[in-house]
Amino acid sequence: MRNPLETVPQAAYEDDFVRIGDASSRGVWITSPTLVKAVLLDERDKFRKLTQIRLLGPLLRKGILTSEGADWKWQRQASAPMFRPAGLANFVPTFVRAAEDTLARWRASPHGSVQAVDDDMSRATFDVISTTLLPSSDEAFALAFQRSVQALQRFGGWDILFAALSLPYWVPRPGGVAKLRAMRTLRSAVTALVRERRGEQEAGSEAPDDLLHRLIAAHDPETGRAMDVEQLVDNLLTFYLAGHETTAKALTWTLYLLARSPEWTAMLEDEIERVTGGASVAGEHIEGLVLVQQVLKESMRLYPPVPIMSRQAVADAVIEGHEIRAGTSVLMPIYVIHRHARRWEHPDEFDPARFASEREAQIPRYQYMPFGAGPRICIGMSFAMMEATAILATLLRDARFATAEGRREPTPVAAVTLMPKGGMPLRVESRRNRR
Ligand code: HEM
Repeated sequence: MRNPLETVPQAAYEDDFVRIGDASSRGVWITSPTLVKAVLLDERDKFRKLTQIRLLGPLLRKGILTSEGADWKWQRQASAPMFRPAGLANFVPTFVRAAEDTLARWRASPHGSVQAVDDDMSRATFDVISTTLLPSSDEAFALAFQRSVQALQRFGGWDILFAALSLPYWVPRPGGVAKLRAMRTLRSAVTALVRERRGEQEAGSEAPDDLLHRLIAAHDPETGRAMDVEQLVDNLLTFYLAGHETTAKALTWTLYLLARSPEWTAMLEDEIERVTGGASVAGEHIEGLVLVQQVLKESMRLYPPVPIMSRQAVADAVIEGHEIRAGTSVLMPIYVIHRHARRWEHPDEFDPARFASEREAQIPRYQYMPFGAGPRICIGMSFAMMEATAILATLLRDARFATAEGRREPTPVAAVTLMPKGGMPLRVESRRNRR
């Protein structure tokens, strides 16, 4: 119950469509690219995001992630430009600074100490999102935010399971009250910050080019409509929640895989040295860090930060000959899709060369989808890739990783994001000390 991934039957790794329970059940696992495409694209009007809306709606209300139809469309159109790759290079110094702060903390410990790398990556991506999204955030805000995310993470597994079993939302579950309290505190803190910043922008003060500024200035290209304070808060919280732990987990699992792969570590170190010429990572280097990006992609194949996506059928549907009745939960276990026995060669093996450009082009679109797919694909995909590339390259310039002795392979646990059970302790050596 604490790990929905363990409830995925072995058959889902081999077949395309597996019912949960008997023929009358209201839940199915789908793992083939054509079925996933039917749900996320071709027949999308019949499948809605009710689970996510239930799970996250109390906090994120009507933001982009948790709204549908016209409500979703105009917000998506209005905020898409702020995440376009061309406008993101300005943020690279912020990404690099967060990684350098992490390195400085590691260097303050004795050489080769074991570090809680999962916590360190959460802190780094938290620093990034705070600086880019709500730059004026104070410590009380940071604390309220972190508590609320922890409450969500701790009880997330239950929510996914409840949704999978189609239990009504009012069935009592652990953590409900604590979670609601944390969410209320967080909303009021963000509202105060937004009002202050919007007031300044309206008064004509010069605003820095951060994501908050871009969101306040965003408008629907069709109608010219801009977001009111409620909608700004909904979306800021959405970007915070969607963009912080996901990227942290992508980096955490990547460092773990590199700790087990001296060959790829050496190849990345060489590439980073060659591309940056030994200088700090900068915006113009990102494109050239090809192997770094290959490793990140392979890491998100084996350990997708969002391990399970779901939709709920709102009308009867037949996809690829399978009958799905209205009310059925359709679960798309990205973790399983990425390790499907019939579709991947050596599915459990770490092999970043799969993502060398000519080989990557052969992978069907709906077979590899760490950022989802279809019209609701992650809006922060380019931001996350650029952030993870800059942070990883900066870390590898100075640090080398090894698995902590006596530690077994970490079990991935599906909460809202894919967490390593028991955290991710890794031995960190500074390369500087060795030069
Ligand atoms: C490695 C990092 C990330 C991963 C793996 C990831 C993954 C995903 C996935 C799988 C979805 C689709 C959910 C669904 O259709 O049910 C999604 C949607 C979304 N993501 Fe991300 N995400 C990441 C980073 C970010 C960042 C950095 C931001 C923003 C700053 C962000 C904002 C969003 C938003 C707003 C949506 C909803 C889009 C919509 O419904 O139109 N994500 N993400």
